[in-house]
Amino acid sequence: MKRRGFLKWLLALFSSVALASFVYPLLRFLAPPSSEAITKKLILRKAEVPAGGVKNIIFNDTPAIILNTRDKGYIVLSKVCTHLGCIVEYSRAQNRFICPCHAGVYDLEGNVLAGPPPKPLLKLPVRVEGDNIIIG
Ligand code: FES
Repeated sequence: MKRRGFLKWLLALFSSVALASFVYPLLRFLAPPSSEAITKKLILRKAEVPAGGVKNIIFNDTPAIILNTRDKGYIVLSKVCTHLGCIVEYSRAQNRFICPCHAGVYDLEGNVLAGPPPKPLLKLPVRVEGDNIIIG
């Protein structure tokens, strides 16, 4: 292969890679996620979350937490902060969720108590059937 041919081939390769790196994210953005991914359910045993306990879970690829409160039963919240998407942490000492990025503070029902978050944490549907906790 001559030098000119090789350079044309190399240019075509780089152009293809550049085009693919633009088109692929665009298609992923425009294509809606499958309904199966949105409607997955997660089943836990009640024994995994005793009264007053909490458990970190992953629900539909999103960090979440389940609380077994003594007065309101099971509460499941997304751990994704509604400000800029950092992962909030449960503070047992303060009985709150704290966002490490900009000090957003949420109560145990996900309501904003302080900081920049514009809205509460996303509450996920939960129900109890027999010995199981069904999320989603
Ligand atoms: Fe949580 Fe900013 S991302 S307060």
